[in-house]
Amino acid sequence: MLPLGVGADSRPIVWDTQETNSLLVSGGPGTGKGAVLRNPITEALRRGWQVVLLDPIKGGGDFKYAEPYCNVFAGTRVEAEAALKTLYAEVVRRKNLTSSYGVANFRDLPENVRPTHILLVVDEFNNAIEEDKVDTRPSTDPEVEAARLEVVAENAAANAIGKTVGRIVKEARSSGVSVLLAGQAIYAAQLAKAGASGLKAMMAAMLLGDPAYGAVQGALRSPDDAPDMGGVCPPGRGRYESTVASAVIIQNLFATIDEHSRLLSGLPEVEKWDLAPKTRKLPSGPAVEDIMLGGPQTPQTVEFSLDDLLALEGSGGSVVQPAVQPVPFEQQWQPTW
Ligand SMILES: Nc1ncnc2c1ncn2[C@@H]1O[C@H](COP(=O)(O)OP(=O)(O)OP(=O)(O)O)[C@@H](O)[C@H]1O
Ligand SMILES: [Mg+2]
Repeated sequence: MLPLGVGADSRPIVWDTQETNSLLVSGGPGTGKGAVLRNPITEALRRGWQVVLLDPIKGGGDFKYAEPYCNVFAGTRVEAEAALKTLYAEVVRRKNLTSSYGVANFRDLPENVRPTHILLVVDEFNNAIEEDKVDTRPSTDPEVEAARLEVVAENAAANAIGKTVGRIVKEARSSGVSVLLAGQAIYAAQLAKAGASGLKAMMAAMLLGDPAYGAVQGALRSPDDAPDMGGVCPPGRGRYESTVASAVIIQNLFATIDEHSRLLSGLPEVEKWDLAPKTRKLPSGPAVEDIMLGGPQTPQTVEFSLDDLLALEGSGGSVVQPAVQPVPFEQQWQPTW
């Protein structure tokens, strides 16, 4: 059980990872997807699960507090692809292990060989699997060609992300791998194109915000049974549909980044997985490198004026922290979900 929020009756709503190994969180911009993702991530880490956190579009900024404890923390599509291929190899190893012991589920393996539970998280999943437009013809201009090849590689990675996530959701149910995907509207056609069709039918779903009926239909399996939001929708409010019941209204548990950090303090930092063997080689070679570095020239000294430095300082990407809650979050966080 991983914490999500509370229902209209104030009872906790949890993601039962034994009931379904995967959850899809969707909602428009700013509806609170990142904030709700942090709850299962923090709790999984507190339980000693391995966490593979992929934020290939936004680079991981929303989850930085968890980075030291995650086995993978990937902020690009190419890294995400390598992480998923590495994870898929682990799923295959686990399937072979369970069958060699003649059991159906990794939970039934003897304790001494039972692998650790893994939580895979992919934020901005819909953007991550979306390919960019690219000219299929090579360019004679080396600079244009280098940029084109990079998009080709990114697109191949986007495709592999969709396909590999699809395989993991479908095949990892008994392998102790839970999958948490988030994004804005994730359309069936988009999933089908990425080879990940059929995913929605087997996932629990959370739809944040109060979008038009079309979006409800796209996000939930039984949209007609879903409750009306009643016109009130603060951040973190939406509908949660498990795989065994129709949707209910949910208000997500909210903690500041500082509160999440405190919940993880004292955990040991973990060793990162080696992604190198599964990392796609980006187009390179002397020609491209020369272009990127401006050719084989003698190094030049670039001088900055004081004004330049001040301008740089002003543009620093500081992270806006959400307002601190008056009640310490540890008091809301139940020890046994
Ligand atoms: N349950 C909540 N209670 C109070 N504030 C919240 C809650 N959930 C989210 N917020 C606040 O709402 C804002 C948007 O949240 P968040 O970034 O999680 O949304 P998002 O859906 O991931 O947005 P985006 O589409 O831009 O990625 C943040 O300032 C966050 O702190
Ligand atoms: Mg977000």
